[in-house]
Amino acid sequence: MQKSVLEQTPQLTPAQTRFHMLKMEDRFREQVLAMASTLVSLVDLRDCYTGGHSTRVADYCHRIALELGVNETETETLLLAASLHDVGKIGVPDHILLKKGLLTEDEFEHIKKHSEFGWMVLRGVEGFEEASLILLHHHERFDGGGYPGDLSGAQIPFGARIVAVADTYDALTTNRPYRNKWEHDRAVAEIERCSGTQFDPKVIDAFMRAFA
Ligand SMILES: [Fe+2]
Repeated sequence: MQKSVLEQTPQLTPAQTRFHMLKMEDRFREQVLAMASTLVSLVDLRDCYTGGHSTRVADYCHRIALELGVNETETETLLLAASLHDVGKIGVPDHILLKKGLLTEDEFEHIKKHSEFGWMVLRGVEGFEEASLILLHHHERFDGGGYPGDLSGAQIPFGARIVAVADTYDALTTNRPYRNKWEHDRAVAEIERCSGTQFDPKVIDAFMRAFA
């Protein structure tokens, strides 16, 4: 009697199944990273400061995470979020995003929307769920009063507290249309001064070990 199609299909051993799944995970991871890199390139095309800035912020986050002993999986999520933290700036009009000069209050309110825009775009994408929360909260302050959630202390995702420090260090040490870049020592001193107010003291301790 002829065998059914199911019976003719070779069955994978448990070891082969595990290997197959690992390959699938690797492929999925590669796809997530490829998509992240595409998004960073898109931001770079729109505003070259933001693109270069995001890559540097990811590098600084990595140095801080190493000091903090953050595990490999969480570091990967952190770096994904750091690379994409300003992706929502794609939704900010050119005349505000690229303005050479100080922003009006209204314009600043518009810029502030970028963290929510980024979160809205990425929160539903498989592989980006956690990173999207980090980028949503990267402008919160440790003592409260930041945006968009007015969160404080442990309410703020830990990764977002790391991105906040790295983001500020890069913004201070880069030339902007409205301000010349600060020297490294001046930027580090300013960030240390904001420990416990704008920034998480635990993150600042790690930042000082890595940067001072
Ligand atoms: Fe931002």
